Amino acid sequence: MRLTPDTASQFVLSRVGHEFAQDPYPDFAVLREHAPLCRQPDGSILLTRYDDVRTALTDAARFSSDKRVDFKPKFGDSPLYEHHTTSLVFNDPPYHTRVRKLLQPFFAVQTLRQMEQGVARMVDELLDVAAEKRVIDIMSEFALAIPLNLVGDLLGVPRGEREPLRTWAGLILGGLEPVRTPEQLAAGNRAVEEFKAYLGELIARKRAHPSRNAETDILWALIQSADAGGGLTELEIIHNSIFLLNAGHDTTTSLISNGMDLLLRFPEQLERLRQDRSLLKPAVEEMLRFESPLQIGNRRPTVEVAIQGETVPAGTFFHLAIAAANRDPRQFDHPDVFDVAREPNKHVAFGHGIHFCAGNAVARMEAQVAFAKLIERFPRIRRAGPTVRPDRSRFRVVDELKVELVA
Ligand code: HEM
Repeated sequence: MRLTPDTASQFVLSRVGHEFAQDPYPDFAVLREHAPLCRQPDGSILLTRYDDVRTALTDAARFSSDKRVDFKPKFGDSPLYEHHTTSLVFNDPPYHTRVRKLLQPFFAVQTLRQMEQGVARMVDELLDVAAEKRVIDIMSEFALAIPLNLVGDLLGVPRGEREPLRTWAGLILGGLEPVRTPEQLAAGNRAVEEFKAYLGELIARKRAHPSRNAETDILWALIQSADAGGGLTELEIIHNSIFLLNAGHDTTTSLISNGMDLLLRFPEQLERLRQDRSLLKPAVEEMLRFESPLQIGNRRPTVEVAIQGETVPAGTFFHLAIAAANRDPRQFDHPDVFDVAREPNKHVAFGHGIHFCAGNAVARMEAQVAFAKLIERFPRIRRAGPTVRPDRSRFRVVDELKVELVA
């Protein structure tokens, strides 16, 4: 049942069902207006207004990303606990700063240019196949392959060994959903173990046969700095690599598949994009705003904070509804209109502050190349089936979307 102004304050994120997971925006709108600081039965708080979400994301001095307190009861002493609490994204400085500095050079403009050529080649190959088949599932036969291969390249994972990465990523990230079953947790734990074993073995192989792509192979660089004595431990390398693989491919896959869904839902916007290719960049930003791949982030203040006129004690867990913030009419004119030329568009789909997505430029580039080539090559793109989504609320995911591509 949809929320109403009277029921807004009773909204419970951990009990949402099919209706919310499929289309959370009407309920987010009610929350934003009538319960912008929504207290949850477990003592946590859900924030939905742009200013509040952005402040919590930005103010790292008062809002901690350290998830040890939250993940202990959730995951126990498990591989999922070890993984998530060792990833840079769920840590504060100084550990966070140390890892971020080691990763930073790999996201520089020069590296990006090198990656762009590879992405363009890959997109061309995928579209050659699509042109022959005419009807493809945009998710499994297009959106998925691009980021998976890019992060595979970034970490120097041999091409023939990339198949299980997606399954592992899905199972590990599934453990972060507000609603999850014991089976999902068990599968997530197994996935971390398998991923760790694989990367441990890959690291040994790389040590035995040094990488030839030293400039772009992050895993190899992390191994080298560890061996030189100034880097991360092997366990830290493994968990941050798993995080990079997960963060880098699942979200970007969603950006491309959600983007396709949006262009089909709003064909006049697809037409505008066809007429004026200079709109490609703002169009990708609008896709990120309108269907944010990561819908909900989290923080925990280390001191007492005042939000929406209420005083909240230190240690309170906050759910930051990025997806709701990105539709806040206080920040965006006509927020429920998908406008490929929207300007300004200060969405928070990549977060903000010290944890601002390290791979934002990579993701943007992948989506821009993908849509540029799709539009260039196929004068007609038509829906050939419904957009099938799983019931997930933390991540905005597409399972299947069949399209007809007419050259
Ligand atoms: C559309 C695609 C993507 C979206 C929507 C996205 C979203 C985000 C968000 C919201 C955060 C901040 C989380 C927080 O503050 O708690 C983040 C962090 C991060 N993302 Fe992305 N991401 C995307 C693609 C990528 C790619 C392609 C990579 C790497 C290849 C990547 C690597 C990272 C890393 C390393 C962090 C952690 C940064 C830190 O803690 O300092 N992401 N991402």
